[in-house]
Amino acid sequence: MKTSTAFGVDIGGSGIKGAVVDLEKGDLATERVKYLTPVPSTPKAVAEVVARLVEEAGWTGELGATFPAVIRHGVAQTAANVDKTWIGTDVDKVFTDTTHCDVTVLNDADAAGIAEARFGAAQGVGGVVILLTFGTGIGSALLVDGRLVPNTELGHLELDGYDAEKRASSAAKDNEGLSYKQWAKRVQRYLRHVEGLFSPDLFVLGGGVSKHSDKWVPLLDISTPVKSAQLLNNAGIVGAAMAAHEKFTH
Ligand code: BGC
Repeated sequence: MKTSTAFGVDIGGSGIKGAVVDLEKGDLATERVKYLTPVPSTPKAVAEVVARLVEEAGWTGELGATFPAVIRHGVAQTAANVDKTWIGTDVDKVFTDTTHCDVTVLNDADAAGIAEARFGAAQGVGGVVILLTFGTGIGSALLVDGRLVPNTELGHLELDGYDAEKRASSAAKDNEGLSYKQWAKRVQRYLRHVEGLFSPDLFVLGGGVSKHSDKWVPLLDISTPVKSAQLLNNAGIVGAAMAAHEKFTH
């Protein structure tokens, strides 16, 4: 029996990563290749990198791509941490034109959320699950009994007069030189706020800093159970490939 596969690309503020994904195992079937996100990260420049990843892999089939913005029916509606010219751009069409693949695009945290729900920390968890990714911004995925409510953008909740991700993302930690303890206090304040709004059954915490989750997750004092993301660096790639295969159309 031929294994079912799709190509996943994860587009972030600093890197663009891609690999073929084994959709039965929820794991990479080829080695992950990473290029730096071009500066400025214009549609043309990013599409060229995506095309290079696909060409180098000799891939012609289903292609899923994550994007760090609200994505409605393939079109970017926002651009918090990428070039502003993306707003209103049909990301799906831009990537289809450059790769000639069957393209599906979705929000980066949503991709991580569906991957963690199927293969990772939220596997088999019913009720309301919120995955939050801490990186350049804060991404969110809301799942209800394993089904995604797309584009929740909980990183942009206003908290203490600030856009929450400006104070509690891992970029804020780095930019302000905060210790894990100082930063965990901000994350805790943020999680308590989200907890008050949604009463989730589980938080899954991911993003680049989830590699060092032992340094900050145990410091969090909140009521909701917390798990660290399990797919780490690959959640976006796996979720993108899943979305492509399942013809995700939000
Ligand atoms: C964007 C989201 C994205 C998150 C993580 C936020 O600034 O608005 O769409 O999911 O960053 O990349």
